[in-house]
This record gives sequence, C-alpha cells and structure tokens, in this order.
Amino acid sequence: MSENFDLIRPLSGANFGGLLMLPGASGAQAFIQEAERAPDALVRALADSGGLLLLQGMQAMADEPALLARLSRRFGPEVENYRETLTPLHMVHESVPEIFIVSNTPPANRPPPKRPDPPLTADGKLPVQFPHRRGWHTDQSYRRPPPDISVFLAVIPVPLGQGQTLFADGAAAYAALSPALKAGVDGLEGLHVRPGTGRSRDAVLAGETPRPLGPNERPQRQPVARVHPVTGRRALYLCEFGQMDWLEGPLVGMQPGPNGDGATLLFELMTHLTQPEFVYVHEWTRGDVLVWDNRCLVHAATWFDAAKEARVMWRTTVSGNPGAAYASERKSWIAP
Ligand SMILES: [Fe+2]
Repeated sequence: MSENFDLIRPLSGANFGGLLMLPGASGAQAFIQEAERAPDALVRALADSGGLLLLQGMQAMADEPALLARLSRRFGPEVENYRETLTPLHMVHESVPEIFIVSNTPPANRPPPKRPDPPLTADGKLPVQFPHRRGWHTDQSYRRPPPDISVFLAVIPVPLGQGQTLFADGAAAYAALSPALKAGVDGLEGLHVRPGTGRSRDAVLAGETPRPLGPNERPQRQPVARVHPVTGRRALYLCEFGQMDWLEGPLVGMQPGPNGDGATLLFELMTHLTQPEFVYVHEWTRGDVLVWDNRCLVHAATWFDAAKEARVMWRTTVSGNPGAAYASERKSWIAP
C-alpha cells in the first residue's frame, strides 16, 4: 500500500474490516488523487481488511457524483453502467449511470426492510443472526459472473440506531466449519435467483405461481465455498429466503424446496455464517463510504422509520476479477 494511507484494523466491534485514512488531507478529491497515484493501494487495503473498508468524510461526492464512479474504478476494471442492465431507470442516477440509488424517497421509492420479530434479541441487542435477522445476501448473485465489489455512499443516512448495514465474514465462517461440514460444502453449489420472480421461500410457501423468466434472468449456480481470487481463501457464498431459488434449489443436487434437505443445510450454514462473532454492524454517518467485497462477505440492511426519515444512499458495483471458476464466461444477464 502507499506509505501515505493509514489502515486501522479491525473495525470497531468486529473481527474484520478496516478504516482507511489519508493523514494530513481531507475530502474525497484528495483521497482519490492519492489512490490514483498508487494504483494497487485500495485493492490491497481491501484484501488486508478481510473485504470491508470504511472511508470517512466523502460527502463532497454528493455534489460531484462522478467522484464516486472514479473512486470505484480503483477497485476493478468494470464499473457497472446501470442503464445497460436490467435495472429500472428510476433507480439509476440521472447524470452518472454507474450509480444505483437506494432510497425511500422519490423517484426510487424503495421501502425499508421489515423489522425483525421480535425487534430485539432476548438480551436487548440488534438481531443479526439468521433466521431472526432476514435479508442476508451478496449483491447480484443471480448473475454469472457476479460482481466483485460494491461501493456505498451515505448521502443522507438516517439517525443512529436504525438503517444500519450488517456484514458477515464468509472466510472466517468457512474456516470455523467442522471438517465434516467443510467436506460437505466443498464442491456444492447454490442456486441463486433474482428477487421478485416468485421463486423466493415466502412465494413458494404461499403457493404463488412464479413468473416466466427471460433467458437473461435464469437462476444461476454459484459455489457455496467460493475461492477468493486475491487472497486464495475460501468463503461461504450464500443468500437465504429472497435470493435463492426455492423451487429447484436452494442447493443443487439436494432435495429442493422449503422442506427439503437442501433447506435444512442452507439454514444450518446461514445460522453459522451470521453468528455475532462473524458480524460487523455499521451505523452510518453522512459522507461515509463502505467498500465491500461480495466474493467473501454477505450483508443485510436493517429497518428504519420511513414515515419519519428520508434515506438516500448511492451504490456502484465493480467487476472484473471473479476468480478462476468464472474464467472467460459470458455475462448471464445480457441476452444472447
Ligand atoms: Fe445488497
């Protein structure tokens, strides 16, 4: 890494993650210029931090959104242009199409996730562990190759105590599996599918008729234990209720459906992966940027009071180094 950056590890309250700072300088512009002078610095800092980097004080990006795309290019060669993919246009930034808008305000109008039931754990804490906490996923795992990195800017966060983002360390969770479970997941594949297609666990349990899938949105197989192309470490790579295919999956070659043995193993793995010892909870401050590595972390969003709060977050996704398992594969989400 460039001598000029400081990396403080781990993030507060977690066993992984890092805060990357540029001492003696402030603001997004100076940070990006330094990163461009040391082209590998950010990729290395991300790998050294177990796949999660926090940058603070980046609020200038809200007025100059092209800076977020520029920062994102430090993490890989392809920054997704959301106008060219399946994304509804009202969720894409007007002038910088690499930015996907996550907001409960118009025009995106995305509601917050549901609150867990009950809202707190028995000892009064924020629930993080599946299945009490739901919504754990890795971004766009319904594509092959899936994106490597997501970059998320807090333009207008909600007050502390709500609207957090949770991250679970798939590499630490894999390393802590019993030898028998490790052997069981090596070589196993999950079947991932785009949310909202009638193939989620809830939809299947409710007996919904799934909608026909286009050739560019078919469920995709992904390794359950994914090898990271930079670190070489294996990590659990899974989603749960909303982003696995509960008709033909969730796990390939195992009994399908919500009551099959594939579901039993997925529950066991997700419950293991999201234990508090593997989880970091991020409380957002305006101008925070979190960079996460979808190849080795899963994440979940939490509830916020949308009747009182307006939340605006911007995300980019970066691709280009998915690993040997995806070598020279064509993009599944672009119709042939
Ligand atoms: Fe996400």
